[in-house]
Amino acid sequence: MNREQPLAIVTGGGTGIGRALTAELVRHGLAVVIVGRREAPLQRTQADLAGVSGSVEPLAADVATEAGRERIIAALGERPVRLLVHNAALLEPVAPLAEVSLADWRQHQAVNVEGPLFLTQALLDRLAGGRVLQISSGAAHHPYASWGAYCSSKAALHMLYQVWREELRERNVQVGSARPGVVDTPMQAHIRTLDAKRFPHVERFRHLQANQMLVKPADAARFLAWLLLATTDREFGAAEWDINECAERWRAWEVPAA
Ligand SMILES: NC(=O)c1ccc[n+]([C@@H]2O[C@H](COP(=O)([O-])OP(=O)(O)OC[C@H]3O[C@@H](n4cnc5c(N)ncnc54)[C@H](OP(=O)(O)O)[C@@H]3O)[C@@H](O)[C@H]2O)c1
Repeated sequence: MNREQPLAIVTGGGTGIGRALTAELVRHGLAVVIVGRREAPLQRTQADLAGVSGSVEPLAADVATEAGRERIIAALGERPVRLLVHNAALLEPVAPLAEVSLADWRQHQAVNVEGPLFLTQALLDRLAGGRVLQISSGAAHHPYASWGAYCSSKAALHMLYQVWREELRERNVQVGSARPGVVDTPMQAHIRTLDAKRFPHVERFRHLQANQMLVKPADAARFLAWLLLATTDREFGAAEWDINECAERWRAWEVPAA
């Protein structure tokens, strides 16, 4: 990895939105550390992007554990971090709140809330002049039956974004939040397999896919890369961004040559 290239960290960079965002950032010349628990998807992302102007460094680590976060810090050495993208997340448990177990709830919170919170905290000293982006969801603001854990964790993440934003401004760290739309990823594929008894809204998601209405990962990534690389500091953190509310801007953004 070239130590002169600005460094980005993308959690969940082996699949879905994180993988597509990594491709965008690499095309813009960044060195991207991608984090996930499984080695294979991370290595595939790295292999597929070999030869593009930036670089990809796969790092198998679990953001939900202290050991995993320490592994990430250790792998960075002394390098400053320009962009930190909290994209890794868990959807399960999909179940009515009446049936959610304490262990499943805690695991969900550990991935979706504690991971981003304590990874940002551990990286604060390296983030001066940089940006932190949290991947939010419509589920942070709208209740879905059987998504109690997911809706609650994304709502908590949204509040973390707002509090971090206030607290970190003085340290010259900008904090943003973005809703990528309903994107064609492994998480969406999993949603469509759910039984309607378990997830009453499943037909809505099947309908979106059947009618080619899912957002392509490459479009979600372009939106996120535009937000990270092309907005002013004031714009970046001003409010949570929705892919559909600024489509004219990110679609018009110039794509660099690969
Ligand atoms: N797809 C959508 O429609 C949609 C809509 C709104 C918001 N989002 C949000 O977008 C983000 C990306 O989702 P996606 O749809 O791209 O789903 P995805 O393909 O399932 O990606 C999730 C990624 O997170 C990683 N991950 C999960 N737990 C982890 C852990 N403990 N430590 C490290 N990495 C972990 C997974 O890799 P490993 O399994 O190898 O760890 C995987 O690469 C999520 O925050 C999701 O909530 C998605």
